Amino acid sequence: MANLKLILVIGGTGAQGSPVVKALSESGRYAVRLLTRNTASDHAKKLAELPNVTLQRGSQDSQKDLHAAFTGVYGAWVNLDGFTLGEKNELFYGVRAYEIARHHGVKHYVFAKIDYGLRQAGWDEQYHCGHNDAKGRVGDLILSHGQSHSGMMTSVFTTGPYMDMLFDGMFVPEEQSDGSFVWENPAADGKIPLIALDDVGVYNLWIFDNPSESAGLDLEVATDQVSFAEIAATFTKVTGKKGVHKRVPLEDYLAKAEPYPGAYSNWTVTEPGVPRDESFMTWRENFTPWWRYWSEGHAATRDMALLDRIHGSRIPSLEAWMKAKNYDGRSRSVLKSIQDLKEKM
Ligand SMILES: NC(=O)c1ccc[n+]([C@@H]2O[C@H](COP(=O)([O-])OP(=O)(O)OC[C@H]3O[C@@H](n4cnc5c(N)ncnc54)[C@H](OP(=O)(O)O)[C@@H]3O)[C@@H](O)[C@H]2O)c1
Repeated sequence: MANLKLILVIGGTGAQGSPVVKALSESGRYAVRLLTRNTASDHAKKLAELPNVTLQRGSQDSQKDLHAAFTGVYGAWVNLDGFTLGEKNELFYGVRAYEIARHHGVKHYVFAKIDYGLRQAGWDEQYHCGHNDAKGRVGDLILSHGQSHSGMMTSVFTTGPYMDMLFDGMFVPEEQSDGSFVWENPAADGKIPLIALDDVGVYNLWIFDNPSESAGLDLEVATDQVSFAEIAATFTKVTGKKGVHKRVPLEDYLAKAEPYPGAYSNWTVTEPGVPRDESFMTWRENFTPWWRYWSEGHAATRDMALLDRIHGSRIPSLEAWMKAKNYDGRSRSVLKSIQDLKEKM
């Protein structure tokens, strides 16, 4: 372990962070310190069995825990969980985590973000989605400090929706009595940059391995950029079953999909009806711009040639991913937070 570079991974037990922890560990070049609220969870214990992975108990929204976590590490990979923190706290702790990392002399800081939709859609408030924009603002701030006069290199890793969400949550189709599968949602006909979680580890290993190229870079990734009509058509091609995208008005969809009436955007950890800060979005307020932004094609801007160069054996398409996963349109668990919630109920 003495010669390995130590990387703090925040969000490492999650769907996006787990492949990063695995790739760093498997490389044999890095040791991982994983920050988690619960070192006894199954997710945490499984990762701790990997070579050179240690767990550190702590919370993303504790400056004391962040100080302890960043002490003595070479690098950091940070994915805050907007769905537990909420937009305002994600913004605050996103900035504080970065500042605390600088204080501790971290050499390479990688911030996992989502598109800054509000900025990319021309500052039109219709696109202000809390969990996208909190991360987007922090990413902009970090890169704005530049690389030249600092002792810390910074990189940003930008994902869109996970391709794996076709298994979990809003992207799962409904099986009909005639055997067909229907995606009934408000998606327009734009292309959405979906990222397969299986490829996330390789991209981030490349970022840490190649700082001369990755410092200052916002690496925007996707496996494929597809519309919902294309998702349904690919499903039919791969499974032989009929797949249909049925576009419905946003209001009709929201009424059906809302976890419960009046749910907050971080509904998995917030009791209904508790007093909230004015900045705190409801689930509807958060996912109305979310559907608009992604499905109107604003984010289908990924540089696939760059991604091919960085990860030559990446999953090449939605079709290849569906085949590799034996995708059948039925739900499987992807997000840790949703699994945790189900286990509590
Ligand atoms: N779903 C998507 O398609 C998608 C796409 C791009 C980006 N994202 C973003 O990814 C983030 C969520 O990560 P995920 O997708 O990996 O979800 P996940 O599978 O539900 O995992 C959540 C992670 O956040 C950690 N976490 C939550 N609150 C924490 C706290 N207070 N202190 C320390 N750790 C905390 C959890 O760690 P412990 O439970 O072990 O403490 C876990 O590692 C969100 O901000 C979301 O916006 C999601």
